Amino acid sequence: MSAETTAGPTAMLASANDRFLSACRREPVDATPIWLMRQAGRYMPAYRALRERYDILEIIRTPELALEVTLQPMRAFDLDAAIIFADILTLLPGMGLELSFARGEGPVIHNPPRRRADIDALADAPIEESVGFTLEAIRLARGALDGRRPLIGFSGAPFTLACYALEGGSSRHYTHAKGLLFDDPVAWDTLMRRMAERVGRYLLAQAEAGAQALQIFDSWAGALSPSDYRAHALPYTRRAIEIARAAGVPILHFGTGTAGILSDIATSGADVVSVDWAIDLDRAWSQLGDLAVQGNLDPVVLLGDWPAVQARADDVLARAAGRTGHIFNLGHGVLPATPMDNVRRLVEHVHQATSRV
Ligand code: CP3
Repeated sequence: MSAETTAGPTAMLASANDRFLSACRREPVDATPIWLMRQAGRYMPAYRALRERYDILEIIRTPELALEVTLQPMRAFDLDAAIIFADILTLLPGMGLELSFARGEGPVIHNPPRRRADIDALADAPIEESVGFTLEAIRLARGALDGRRPLIGFSGAPFTLACYALEGGSSRHYTHAKGLLFDDPVAWDTLMRRMAERVGRYLLAQAEAGAQALQIFDSWAGALSPSDYRAHALPYTRRAIEIARAAGVPILHFGTGTAGILSDIATSGADVVSVDWAIDLDRAWSQLGDLAVQGNLDPVVLLGDWPAVQARADDVLARAAGRTGHIFNLGHGVLPATPMDNVRRLVEHVHQATSRV
């Protein structure tokens, strides 16, 4: 193992900061906070080294390994928040759905519920029993981070989880998910109610285990027409957030392709809305009103030369214009081909360019 993977938690994060949580609450900060979706992952040699020995589900289901991967980017970069290492799909096996990750092919659900009888027969195993490993990883990570950086917990949103469940994995056109929604709205509602309760309870359990903020990933929200989104996806996100609200921690909403539904997402109950790069940050913010905003650099920018990265990061910062409540992030996750050095420089640059002390 490299020094990077063996250094203990005390080797990192010399000084504590809670800029990320302050920005979620739209309070003034000493510099704009930055963290990156998929900040732990294949672009890091330390992660790839661990993946040679364990598959992704083994890492997620072993709290000590999930802790190790959570800390890898925190040791390498001056990030303002850690995100627990897990995956949105691990919530599905507790519903009786068999999940595996085929090498190079992404996730597979082996028994997608396609008929109403399948949906009625879905299980609802207790959260502690089905994803207790992630709750334990959260407890370990809080101990290791020792208050120096906040820890984010997360879940998939009901809609995105339903898409994976019904399609049996990733999909281009969501024919099964949309087909159910269009042809059998009652069965769709049954499935989505179950998802919403489960997502809400999972988020709440993560906060109780120590997560200081919660992000709900609705990666495919943009696949629906705005009216279908409002009628058949948003109410269930709202319900999940309502359940998680009891934890009293900031809640972030993430989606892609959301430029046409931002004013709807603004009513989800989330405190922070993450936007992708297909809309200017200032224009997005004007649709979101009184909320904090996260985003929105195109992850592909990070594959290029530093001057181009800096120019585009500066454009995002100029559009945020020093307003309270901006959290710098990408519009979607870090890509595997991203050079580590660009990530390091981006984090430093955002802090330096926005330093208010
Ligand atoms: O942000 C972080 O650092 C935390 C880790 C994290 C993972 N998945 C680990 C992971 C997070 C936040 C997720 C969320 C997730 N998982 C989403 C929502 C965000 C998004 O990207 O839209 C979705 C849709 C998934 C489902 C998923 N997991 C897919 C489609 C895949 C395969 C495709 C891919 O990118 O590899 C995964 C696997 C996965 N989850 C990886 C990681 C680091 C890569 C797999 C590997 O190491 O082999």
